[in-house]
Amino acid sequence: MQLLLSLAPAFLAITPTFAASPEEWRGKSIYQLVTDRFAVANDSAPLCDTAARKHCGGSWKGITNHLDYIQNMGFDAVWISPIYKNLDVVTKRGEAYHGYWVKDFNALNPHFGTEDDLKELVKALHDRGMYIMLDMVVNHCTAPALPPAFDFDGYFHPFTDASYFRPPTCWTNGSMELDIMQNCWLGDPILPLPDLNTDQPRVVDLLYQNVHDIVTKYGIDGVRVDTVKHIRSDFWPGWVKGAGVYALGELYSNDTDFIAPWTQVIDGVTDYPSYFYLRQAFSKAGGPIQPFIDEMSSQLLKNAMTYLFIHDGLPIVYYGQEQDYNGAIDPSNREALWFSAYQKEKPMVKYIKTLNGARKAAIAAPKNFLTTPLKFLAVENTSFAVSKPPMLALLTNAGNQSHNVTWSVPDAGFAPNETLVDVLSCEKVEADGHGGVNVRAIGGMPQMLMPALIAIQGRALCPDAAKTIWQASKYKKAPKHSNEQLQTSMASDRDRNLVSWMILFASLAFVTTFRLRLM
Ligand SMILES: *[C@@H]1O[C@H](CO)[C@@H](O)[C@H](O)[C@H]1NC(C)=O
Ligand SMILES: *[C@@H]1O[C@H](CO)[C@@H](O)[C@H](O)[C@H]1NC(C)=O
Ligand SMILES: *[C@@H]1O[C@H](CO)[C@@H](O)[C@H](O)[C@H]1NC(C)=O
Ligand SMILES: *[C@@H]1O[C@H](CO)[C@@H](O)[C@H](O)[C@H]1NC(C)=O
Ligand SMILES: *[C@@H]1O[C@H](CO)[C@@H](O)[C@H](O)[C@H]1NC(C)=O
Ligand SMILES: *[C@@H]1O[C@H](CO)[C@@H](O)[C@H](O)[C@H]1NC(C)=O
Ligand SMILES: *[C@@H]1O[C@H](CO)[C@@H](O)[C@H](O)[C@H]1NC(C)=O
Repeated sequence: MQLLLSLAPAFLAITPTFAASPEEWRGKSIYQLVTDRFAVANDSAPLCDTAARKHCGGSWKGITNHLDYIQNMGFDAVWISPIYKNLDVVTKRGEAYHGYWVKDFNALNPHFGTEDDLKELVKALHDRGMYIMLDMVVNHCTAPALPPAFDFDGYFHPFTDASYFRPPTCWTNGSMELDIMQNCWLGDPILPLPDLNTDQPRVVDLLYQNVHDIVTKYGIDGVRVDTVKHIRSDFWPGWVKGAGVYALGELYSNDTDFIAPWTQVIDGVTDYPSYFYLRQAFSKAGGPIQPFIDEMSSQLLKNAMTYLFIHDGLPIVYYGQEQDYNGAIDPSNREALWFSAYQKEKPMVKYIKTLNGARKAAIAAPKNFLTTPLKFLAVENTSFAVSKPPMLALLTNAGNQSHNVTWSVPDAGFAPNETLVDVLSCEKVEADGHGGVNVRAIGGMPQMLMPALIAIQGRALCPDAAKTIWQASKYKKAPKHSNEQLQTSMASDRDRNLVSWMILFASLAFVTTFRLRLM
């Protein structure tokens, strides 16, 4: 153990071969899955009662066998469940099928496969030019009971006795006070999550070494880390350095002011504020009717999904979204995907594929799409536009009332009279003489406009319409875009949250994670 202390400075200098930086992640689009629930190795469809919280048989081999399904939707990165060996008993809260109940940081979870299976998955992803993101837990372990019923001695690895942990004197119990979040235990007496004492240098060194070892051993391209706010912020830069790859932190809060400072200590954070507010905004049209009866119409879901792909940062789609899974709260949001038969013709599968295709075409265009902050334009009671050149998203939550909605965006920033295409419907739209647009909503659907000449570069976009659009555009002069014009036309009524968001936008990689269940 002492040896590790002296190793610590050495590993910081090493750049792992597969390491992917935030810069390299910026253009990626991530598919997040639960390893136990995504696919089984033998392609059977075993029973899986989500409410029972038991293992259902999904594995790394299963993922490897279904990479076509993921790549077909346009994703270029896969975020998998934690790989550590977990608590392997049936607790009153079920089994550790999700992988978050760490027992041994240095051993793999045998339920998900072997070391070779994991290496094969990583290789298969890399062979496709795709990245792997690993979910990690560092704040705590999980115990089957409280002491004295539970004995720390030799139970967790490498944290082999109680002295590595904070004493169980208090519970975080959902508190948002830093002092409580960081010094008390998560969980409760039924399922305690013993809190690693990260005030101890030897604990810190072991955790820094562990992430380094895992990333280099398996060729991991990026890590997502759980419960960031539960460890003091000055722990994180060293951990991120140990990882040596893009590190995305989970900060579960709808308060942008709370989240913003954490972007200084970790490469990216999950954008829960947008998640909560967007969900609220697009849930309104349904009105205050019982959520299950008043099933959210797909127009609203599509509007929210569209926003995700224009928003600053990396889009992350949680598995099952594409197959219209219903989600709800844990454990209901961890359904087995094999019951969907991995259909590729589902409307939402195709829709996500289109959005990924549009984003890729935008990234490929000479517009600095990834580094230009988005702007809200033409904000009305039930509609708004989002500009992030060369894209202009037109969104509405008016639902069936959308015939009333017209997006009037004089400052859309396109070239005068430019031919645009709504990549979601493949309809042609003409910019006006000043590069603005005036479009009426149809059937509550969103629109994603981009110059036709850019859209047709996207292979997955509007294949049938491309020819027509090309014919229509080729007699026109190549349009000149005014990026400056777009950059400077700031919305005047930005509220405090939006100003705070700008702080986040300035950080290198701002990430949106979603399981959009509009209830
Ligand atoms: C296929 O794998 C699942 C999950 O591991 C298992 O439950 C099932 O028994 C296997 N079926 C066959 C035919 O091997
Ligand atoms: C957590 O808080 C609730 C109510 O605020 C309380 O009933 C419960 O006993 C607390 N649990 C623990 C473990 O402190
Ligand atoms: C944000 O969180 C606070 C406190 O939990 C809550 O009162 C508020 O309704 C939340 N807002 C949204 C948009 O979710
Ligand atoms: C927009 O909402 C405000 C406040 O609720 C209301 O006063 C106004 O009449 C609405 N405008 C339209 C066009 O519906
Ligand atoms: C919207 O219209 C469709 C078709 O006319 C109908 O099935 C649906 O229930 C309507 N939704 C709402 C929220 O009114
Ligand atoms: C849409 O217009 C109709 C009348 O044309 C009106 O009754 C309805 O309230 C309007 N809906 C919205 C969301 O403004
Ligand atoms: C745009 O089209 C209008 C009407 O066809 C025309 O009058 C105008 O000169 C055009 N503007 C440019 C910059 O081509």
